[in-house]
Amino acid sequence: KKTYKITILPGDGIGQEVTREGKKVLEKIAAKFGHTFEFDEATIGHAAIEATGNPLPDESLAKMKASDAILFGAVGHPKYDNDPTAKVRPEQGLLRMRKELGLYANLRPIKLFDELLEASSIKPEVLRGSDILFFRELTGDVYFGERGRKDNGDTAYDTMIYSRYEVERIAHKAFKAAMTRKKKVMSVDKSNVLESSRLWKEVVNEVAKQYPEVTLEHQFIDAAAMLLIKNPKAFDVVLTGNLFGDILTDEASQIAGSMGMLASASVGDTVGLYEPIHGSAHDITGKGVANPLASILSAALLLDISFGMKEEADTVIKAVEQTLKAGFRTRDIADANTPAANILNTETMGAKVLEFI
Ligand code: NAD
Ligand code: IPM
Ligand code: MN
Repeated sequence: KKTYKITILPGDGIGQEVTREGKKVLEKIAAKFGHTFEFDEATIGHAAIEATGNPLPDESLAKMKASDAILFGAVGHPKYDNDPTAKVRPEQGLLRMRKELGLYANLRPIKLFDELLEASSIKPEVLRGSDILFFRELTGDVYFGERGRKDNGDTAYDTMIYSRYEVERIAHKAFKAAMTRKKKVMSVDKSNVLESSRLWKEVVNEVAKQYPEVTLEHQFIDAAAMLLIKNPKAFDVVLTGNLFGDILTDEASQIAGSMGMLASASVGDTVGLYEPIHGSAHDITGKGVANPLASILSAALLLDISFGMKEEADTVIKAVEQTLKAGFRTRDIADANTPAANILNTETMGAKVLEFI
């Protein structure tokens, strides 16, 4: 029987706090279903800089490459956010990891639990029935283009750049997913201005021909950002670049009620990596109040996508649903009607989910 190796990569800030709960869920699933999961922890981000001077030590990368899946938290530290002159930064570790592992497709499902209709600042009648799957390209774009300074440092530039193969491979993933859903893809770009977006659109149109059953719609990023709040139900599969996808999915988190609810899967050439879309959240770090559900739902994506364990993944999602149905909330998803006794912290929320598993 197979032993599955999972690298746990807590990172910084609330990454540490929420990943602990995600890991417990994986342990519980292993026990319930009779699987053998072997865990190994690795460092990244600020913690790794402090220990080794490198935000992504070789040892961490080697562990990840040798594992069957990775559960990641977040990186980031106020020290760096407040110091634009720092040369070594936690986020560099994250970007290098994505590149080295070939994780070019970032799937960000916007799953709205009915129980959280009131948690959002958007009207329930606008939200009800929303179900979106973002395909955010993750190893290209302005994140990885040539960058630098000139004019004695007084001019700075970052290059937005895409190559045909990069657009093709993520487009295929989005269209394939669309075939299993509503057969609709919305591609989001800024092709009225940007050359890289014009290539993006051209390639997406070509790929679309191979999926004649799928209806392709194009939107510009500015209009898409507006439409997402106006009528989220009009979205199904969204295909977009690295930067636009980063921004649109933080916006979309408000459809699900909170940043603390959104999980993601990063897949590509090698091992799959699973992480909440949120960051290290310095404003709540150490308070024990972070919502662990994004990490727990990332664990469910790990089971489903990397291990093909559908029933196990569904068990986790159902447990989250039951926890919410029973009225339990973390602070970020509580509303005026939530009794104080039902507002749980990171650990007690995690424990509730474990009970329902
Ligand atoms: P953030 O996502 O960390 O936080 C944004 C807001 O959402 C904060 O008010 C935070 O308290 C809240 N929030 C986030 N996750 C939550 C959770 N699980 N439960 C409850 N509330 C939650 O974004 P930020 O504040 O802009 O960035 C903080 C640091 O995180 C920065 O250093 C940034 O670079 C880093 N970051 C890292 C990642 C990553 O590692 N993937 C992602 C985004 C930001
Ligand atoms: C994310 C984050 C990262 C990104 C940062 C921290 C580099 O915002 O994972 O969404 O922009 O990709
Ligand atoms: Mn982001």
